[in-house]
Amino acid sequence: MKIKNICCIGAGYVGGPTMAVIAQKCPDIDITVVDINENRIAAWNDEDVENIPIYEPGLSDIVKEARGRNLFFSTDVDAAIDKADMIFISVNTPTKTYGIGKGMAADLKYIELCARQIARVAKDDKIVIEKSTLPVRTAAALKNILDNTGNGVKYQILSNPEFLAEGTAVQDLLNPDRVLIGGDIDTEKGQEAVNALVDIYATWIPQENILTTNVWSSELSKLTANAFLAQRVSSINAMSELCEVTGADVGEVSRAVGKDSRIGPKFLQASVGFGGSCFQKDILNLVYISKTFGLNEVADYWEQVIIMNDHQKRRFAEKIVKTLYNTVAGKKIAILGWAFKKDTNDTRESAAIYVTDYLLNEQADIVVYDPKVNKEQVFADLEYLGTHSSEEIRERVQVLTSAMDATREAHAVAVLTEWDEFQELNWQKIYDSMLKPAFLFDGRRLLEGKSKRKIGFEYYSIGS
Ligand code: UDX
Ligand code: ADP
Repeated sequence: MKIKNICCIGAGYVGGPTMAVIAQKCPDIDITVVDINENRIAAWNDEDVENIPIYEPGLSDIVKEARGRNLFFSTDVDAAIDKADMIFISVNTPTKTYGIGKGMAADLKYIELCARQIARVAKDDKIVIEKSTLPVRTAAALKNILDNTGNGVKYQILSNPEFLAEGTAVQDLLNPDRVLIGGDIDTEKGQEAVNALVDIYATWIPQENILTTNVWSSELSKLTANAFLAQRVSSINAMSELCEVTGADVGEVSRAVGKDSRIGPKFLQASVGFGGSCFQKDILNLVYISKTFGLNEVADYWEQVIIMNDHQKRRFAEKIVKTLYNTVAGKKIAILGWAFKKDTNDTRESAAIYVTDYLLNEQADIVVYDPKVNKEQVFADLEYLGTHSSEEIRERVQVLTSAMDATREAHAVAVLTEWDEFQELNWQKIYDSMLKPAFLFDGRRLLEGKSKRKIGFEYYSIGS
């Protein structure tokens, strides 16, 4: 089966970059990425590719190459579904904020809407691919909706979880450790659908790195991979607190531990806490599924990873308050970095949001600078928590476009995202413009501490 037309529903952090790379590598396949968000689609179509809605190193160039040739962005979801042989579902699956499973289960309403729309529109057989991270057995629900509400059309459902990390999405897509495709491999039609997707990836990825499994293994592997990665971060963050009270240094500990080839050096960087749209959500999914099956010990085991992460964010904020003589009321705290990691403009679950919220509880005045995140996003993130009114947030939080301006006359500076440019700042000048004593809290272990102390900063770094 040769695929000629692909539709991707959802032009977000997953759908956008993934389709851009497939379009670049497979110029003979027409790909239409659709979204109900008109502004987002307009931004993807912006004449100047620097204005696409997602910041990812290398992505603009790929969009420039493929857009208008075989990569299209549109709000006409029906037309794209109708034309496609293969449909990727890449819509958001946030944690439920209401009802059963509130705060834990994934909210599948967007997925379900997609399924119903596909069922309504499709007039010929389609391969439907879950790209969004989903709880195990979502494929079964998808199939159920498609088979029972469709126009008698036959569907093959595949799970093809995305392993790209934001900030390195293009590289991850071009050279993935593996591609995982789950399908109904025990049936001829199912195997055919799996092969059709394998053929697409095999255009640029070695066959041995393309793994095929049954659908449920694929769905669960994605949750497992993210849970393991998040667990490593929580593990090293737990050690960071112990390091601070014992006089050990967490950087030295991770280096020593990471040299063990069984452990390896990656994902051992202590921080103010992991963020991003995946880790917390996926672990909560895992916890929820385990509880649903009565596996309480399994659920508790994974939940601890989140408890540790929440503790780390709160502990960092508390450290600021305690160090500033137990009060930050009316004091100006500069937050450097709002994105959940460097090289992305994504802020979902970023530690900066929670640290700032805590400091607002303590009546601090906050000034934020992030090279890629705009003012409205910062306000929206804080408003989403619902702890402070929109008026209060806009009164107490300022978002500026330079680190120098943000830190001027501040009582303290907190580094919350590891942007490279923060290392290059003129820290002497920042020190000179701050109130004294000038406190510097490094939530990323990004800065070289000795030189900062020499300048005169009261410098605190996580895990030292
Ligand atoms: C993650 C997975 O890595 C990716 O495979 C999956 O597809 C989606 O979820 P992402 O959330 O984009 O990707 O970024 P990642 O690099 O995993 O970082 C997640 C968070 O952990 C960030 O806040 C990062 O700063 C933090 N982190 C990561 C640490 O604090 N320390 C580390 O050592 C590594
Ligand atoms: P991810 O990180 O998973 O890509 P995003 O939130 O960045 O998540 O992107 C998901 C996109 O899916 C959003 O732009 C949203 O508007 C879009 N979306 C959600 N539901 C639908 C739908 N039914 N039809 C089309 N697009 C949708």
